[in-house]
Amino acid sequence: MSLLLTPWQIPPKHPELTERSAHLWRFPLDCQEPLEGLLDEQELQRARRLRIPEKARTFVVGRARLRQILAAYLGLAPETLRFDTGAFGKPALAGLADAPTFNLAHSGQWGLCAVTRGVEVGVDIEQVNRQLDYEKLAAQFFSAREQSWLQDASDLRRRRLFFRLWTRKEAWLKGKGGGFSDPDQELVSAHLEGCYTSNGSWWLRSFPVARYYLATLAVSQQYTLLQRWNGWPAPE
Ligand SMILES: CC(C)(COP(=O)(O)OP(=O)(O)OC[C@H]1O[C@@H](n2cnc3c(N)ncnc32)[C@H](O)[C@@H]1OP(=O)(O)O)[C@@H](O)C(=O)NCCC(=O)NCCS
Repeated sequence: MSLLLTPWQIPPKHPELTERSAHLWRFPLDCQEPLEGLLDEQELQRARRLRIPEKARTFVVGRARLRQILAAYLGLAPETLRFDTGAFGKPALAGLADAPTFNLAHSGQWGLCAVTRGVEVGVDIEQVNRQLDYEKLAAQFFSAREQSWLQDASDLRRRRLFFRLWTRKEAWLKGKGGGFSDPDQELVSAHLEGCYTSNGSWWLRSFPVARYYLATLAVSQQYTLLQRWNGWPAPE
């Protein structure tokens, strides 16, 4: 089964997830719009606790866009949505039968939100930072085999491969929702798209989101359509 991957398109007002499809939304984080009114008290408190203003703003924009996106699938007002948090922090919609599953990620100027139904999903985006001491991070977080893939790469390709592996691992771990405690963390391939996790059931796909931004989407079963949306649905 091959995958149909759409370009980034203008989203419909009422997006629909067909069988074996996944949706991915990208949105800029540097907007000036007042969005706090969409968040609940718990989220506002979290934003207030973030001392660095850019981090607080990223959190507010990310949560507001997440609410606007999910609300469009559900036909509800964004501010009425409630979230539960898993044991390791993965948010999910609360109190709704057959609700979409989702995952959020942000880095630098871009936010990403993946939405699926009936399967688990994880997403990660990273800004390809040329100053990052990636070898130190690889030594800390990558298995011996994953580090050997990096060593085998040419000097030109090594940094980019690091970000590819990092987003693949992070998206997969975020999909599973178990965080750093997850005992099964080793990727089985550095490059190939498709089903490349050790338990064999997760589907990973990596792609650029914008210049110098790399992302991976991880879905807990094979899907045949990935629709990519720019922005978020305009309100009625
Ligand atoms: C918690 C964690 C997912 C945050 O990652 P991050 O890179 O700082 O942030 P991202 O932008 O990718 O994702 C943040 C969002 O993920 C979601 N999230 C939080 N905890 C999560 C979890 N355990 N699983 C899945 N998603 C989670 C939240 O929506 C959060 O955004 P919000 O707080 O604004 O709502 C991360 O620290 C983690 O546990 N990663 C997996 C462990 C690991 O081994 N990583 C390194 C290997 S490459």
